[in-house]
Amino acid sequence: EREFLTLGIESSCDDSAVAVLRGQRDVAAELLSSQVESHAPYGGVIPEFAARMHLEAFLPLTEEVLRRAAVREPAKEIGLIAVTAGPGLMGSLLVGVMAAKALSLAWNVPLVAVNHLEGHMFANVVSFPELAPPFLCMIVSGGHTEIVLAEDFGRYVFLGGTRDDAAGEAYDKVAKVLGLPYPGGPAVDRLAASGNPGAFDFPVPMRGSSAGIVFSFSGLKTAAVTEIGRLRAEGKTVPVEDICASFQRAVVDSLVGKLALAVKRTGVKTVALSGGVAANSALRAALKEQRGWNVFLPPVNRCTDNAVMIAAAGCSAYLRGVRTPIDFAPDPSWEL
Ligand code: KG4
Ligand code: ZN
Repeated sequence: EREFLTLGIESSCDDSAVAVLRGQRDVAAELLSSQVESHAPYGGVIPEFAARMHLEAFLPLTEEVLRRAAVREPAKEIGLIAVTAGPGLMGSLLVGVMAAKALSLAWNVPLVAVNHLEGHMFANVVSFPELAPPFLCMIVSGGHTEIVLAEDFGRYVFLGGTRDDAAGEAYDKVAKVLGLPYPGGPAVDRLAASGNPGAFDFPVPMRGSSAGIVFSFSGLKTAAVTEIGRLRAEGKTVPVEDICASFQRAVVDSLVGKLALAVKRTGVKTVALSGGVAANSALRAALKEQRGWNVFLPPVNRCTDNAVMIAAAGCSAYLRGVRTPIDFAPDPSWEL
């Protein structure tokens, strides 16, 4: 008998992604259509464009993924459809959710609505069979900066998040002001490697344990942008590498500091990372240095939005008995 197949669908932001997962970890096929080049001229995701591009992408993507997974009769072979139902952009979520509902009805296959953040956590579960709850997961992307305690699969405690900008959002803004291509995180990361992190004394947001597990990147972003503006106004050359390195040091100090606080408060030393900023070289290096922690850093293509993590989270929920009725609605601000 063939192993259980889950069709995963992700459309919460600007990536249209479809995957077929065999069992809980084996990727039969996956495809992702990124819209990043279409949004790049605007320096950020334009929600209306995103929804329209998802609409164009999903049918061909799904057909091709099924073909690559050698699924000939999906009604017989697919056991479950898992779809991201929030948080995310409403127009984008709707496209994936409507596709999932249509396929569920057409094939008479059960449906599980997946929380995008639980999906990000499952990037680790898929990548590391040895990872078991309880563990902490820090999700850092263009839309999220949060620390979650997974007490068990399906039992999550939100420990803290950002009061304003997400870390990736701050990276993208600073990069934009420096004239770097969107999304700017990777470029800032690269330039920071040859800069002096002590060149500028940018504030480390919410420093210290008294502030609690809370992030804030808007002040840091403004400090960097203001400094760049001041240098330009004075006719000086902007030391791009030093700005990047100093900004990155403040971001990484903040992320690692709050993670350390979460470890201290929960006593849980198993720490997993997810989201686009998890690709950051300084953050990865800093986490590997933490003594006594058991750190999980998934490959970058699992950290960024993808459908494999959604299929994995959905399959796990399904095995725990979760079923989602067909009349559910996506929730742009769905909390874990
Ligand atoms: O998870 P993701 O692909 O999409 C969402 O935001 O949901 O994350 C994208 C974010 C962008 O802000 C991008 O600049 C940032 O992740 N990013 C990085 C790096 N690679 C991607 N930020 C810092 N360093 C990187 N190496
Ligand atoms: Zn995401």
